[in-house]
Amino acid sequence: MDDTLKGTFLVGSLRSESLNRAAAVHARSFLADGAEVTTPDLGEIPLYNQDLEENASLEVVTQFQREVSRSDIVVIFSPEYNYGIPGLLKNAIDWLSRPFGAGSLIGKAVGIVSVTPSSRVGENVREQLLQTCAILSDRTYGITLGIGGVASLNKGALPHEGRQALDDWLEMFTLYAVGRKPS
Ligand SMILES: Cc1cc2nc3c(=O)[nH]c(=O)nc-3n(C[C@H](O)[C@H](O)[C@H](O)COP(=O)(O)O)c2cc1C
Repeated sequence: MDDTLKGTFLVGSLRSESLNRAAAVHARSFLADGAEVTTPDLGEIPLYNQDLEENASLEVVTQFQREVSRSDIVVIFSPEYNYGIPGLLKNAIDWLSRPFGAGSLIGKAVGIVSVTPSSRVGENVREQLLQTCAILSDRTYGITLGIGGVASLNKGALPHEGRQALDDWLEMFTLYAVGRKPS
């Protein structure tokens, strides 16, 4: 049996020096051969519009929804913007929620991570994402990860403690995703 997990990472920042993108890159290498991961460019997803959904089939959106549908795990890496979810990410999630009752996140193990310079560790965005994702997948992982106090990247990488915290969380999350209890 093939144990390789299929995953999609959603990064809620377009910034080239994004802390959250660096976390996604690290997570991808941590999971390495254990998961086949794609990280779609959320900047290419048009703004959600119900007219577009009903009257046109947008290849970029269809492709994105398919990618997520094929995944076992979806991990969100996102900053907090003004105590909330960045528009870029919320827009992508709104598309994934459609069609109503048959969205692409149904049944996916969804994990939530936020990396921030703030000591408040993205508590608002994680709480809001948890609320939104929990109505879209009943397998949303209730333990979110906030990595705070990260001022900048070091040669493109998160500081050691941040990477360690992410590794520990990913281990727990993947056990949850495959339905195993931690030993
Ligand atoms: C528009 C905007 C709003 C922000 N609002 C918050 C906030 O409410 N709470 C917070 O902790 N940080 C806030 N920040 C700071 C971000 O956490 C910080 O810029 C972070 O590094 C962005 O994530 P990224 O590095 O992945 O791009 C805000 C930044 C921007 C650009």
